[in-house]
Amino acid sequence: MDDELNALRRARMRWNAPLSEPHAELLLDRMALGGDRLADLGCGWGELLLRALERVPDLRGTGIDTDPEVLERGRAAARARGLASRVEFTEADAATWDGPAGRAFCIGASHAFGPAKAALDRLARVVPSGRVLYGDGFWSAPPSAAAREIFGEDVLTLPGLLEAVDAAGWRVLHLSTADQLEWDGFESASRLAWQEWLLAHPADPRAPGVRDWLDRRLREYVRDYRGVLGFTYLVLGR
Ligand SMILES: C[S@@+](CC[C@H](N)C(=O)[O-])C[C@H]1O[C@@H](n2cnc3c(N)ncnc32)[C@H](O)[C@@H]1O
Repeated sequence: MDDELNALRRARMRWNAPLSEPHAELLLDRMALGGDRLADLGCGWGELLLRALERVPDLRGTGIDTDPEVLERGRAAARARGLASRVEFTEADAATWDGPAGRAFCIGASHAFGPAKAALDRLARVVPSGRVLYGDGFWSAPPSAAAREIFGEDVLTLPGLLEAVDAAGWRVLHLSTADQLEWDGFESASRLAWQEWLLAHPADPRAPGVRDWLDRRLREYVRDYRGVLGFTYLVLGR
């Protein structure tokens, strides 16, 4: 797809994770955000990072991602909300960012480090003493071969993920999982901007490609992983 359509694709998403507004507020409460540095590894456009900065006036933020487009969206949002002087959006590999920070988010980005244990070990180095909000997928039901093919062999069960947390030396201060409404809302929002574009531009030469992509993604969701892939939010302390 061309740059215009690629830029539009995630426009209707609040953040790039299955997360409701009230659930996000609860997680920010549990992070006990202080007046130090908050790092967001694999930040996307950093909406949760910006909300954390809005809550705590002394807090400074660093968002790290490898995708220049999402980082630019984050910078524009920070400017629009008067937060630009307290946050930097840095194009870098999160796996090489050392910190230190007193608080960190790593939501839907553990694959940047390898398996969950590698991510949790690295987060322990970034946050030597403090809290991390770690969001990751897990199998909530036995996956089909098709689901494994989409998400790879590193996905754990929730007990397996908690074993990795324990082995990396973290204590679990909070555990919650995305519910079905959050998942359906997330999946629908991930397709909504293109769905609306398609309805408005049925004769565009790019329309057949967009329709195929949307239909494939919806089919995969309902057939291969709806109710099978879970997503957990862990507030971890050390
Ligand atoms: C599912 S998105 C989640 C984004 C964000 N945490 C959120 O919740 O909205 C995963 C993000 O990880 C980023 N990513 C993937 N590999 C990365 C790496 N090696 N270093 C930094 N970011 C990476 C992607 O560009 C993407 O923005």
